[in-house]
Amino acid sequence: MPKNVLITGAARRIGAACARLLHSEGCNVFLHYRSSKDAAFQLSHELNELRPNSAKTMQADLLDMSALKKLAIDACEAWGGIDALINNASAFYPTPFTDASEQQWDELLGGNLKAPFFLSQALSGTLAQNKGCIINIGDIHAERGLPGFPVYCIAKAGLMAMTKLLARELAPNIRVNAVSPGAILWPEHDLPESEKVEILQRIPLMRSGEPQDIAKSVLFLIRDAGYVTGQIICVDGGRTLFC
Ligand SMILES: NC(=O)c1ccc[n+]([C@@H]2O[C@H](COP(=O)([O-])OP(=O)(O)OC[C@H]3O[C@@H](n4cnc5c(N)ncnc54)[C@H](OP(=O)(O)O)[C@@H]3O)[C@@H](O)[C@H]2O)c1
Repeated sequence: MPKNVLITGAARRIGAACARLLHSEGCNVFLHYRSSKDAAFQLSHELNELRPNSAKTMQADLLDMSALKKLAIDACEAWGGIDALINNASAFYPTPFTDASEQQWDELLGGNLKAPFFLSQALSGTLAQNKGCIINIGDIHAERGLPGFPVYCIAKAGLMAMTKLLARELAPNIRVNAVSPGAILWPEHDLPESEKVEILQRIPLMRSGEPQDIAKSVLFLIRDAGYVTGQIICVDGGRTLFC
């Protein structure tokens, strides 16, 4: 089992679920956050209570390249190397085509695509040395666009392309895979109840998933999938079968 894992956007929601599960499997977790300081500290405290010196936190805005590079260096130094990088942090909001701005493009492409690329680059040395892996958290809408969210979907489509490209580029020493969630946790901006009902009706398993479903797939790719690289696992209750 890989030992040291860096998870971006790890303070809350799906990132925190990945951190808890990987930690319960014996990993040290380097918890990156941007603005959720209290949640990140609380999670780190909770995990360190279970096992001393097994969790650390670091703040960084991943749109800031110098902060990103410092995150990679500090994560590497925390326990003497990184075995797995989970690119989970993400910005998500609508950008109707006619109104989308350059600033939104830079923010959505920056957080969802540019940051995972340059974090992978910055950590490729230690990951290769440790025969490690990269897991990118995508979105089923990377392939089948979400109306009103073109820029986000383009960014996630780029991330899925990057998964396959880097799997070739970084083989044989680093495996690169992705998990593409469907409806797991509703976005934090308002979503009308009627829209939620409509989404759930289009899911064959008739329910939303849970952060644990994503965390378990991440664990599988890290721990049990030593002969898998360049793959994208959809964890979506079958939704992509009918979109
Ligand atoms: N939730 C779902 O149902 C769903 C569905 C499809 C795909 N996904 C994907 O699954 C992953 C996790 O989903 P989620 O809903 O748990 O994510 P989320 O809550 O929307 O975002 C995760 C974290 O990303 C961080 N972040 C955003 N922009 C950042 C930036 N510029 N620099 C640094 N950190 C930044 C934020 O950290 P702070 O809070 O610390 O600022 C945020 O807590 C994401 O990649 C998402 O696209 C989720």
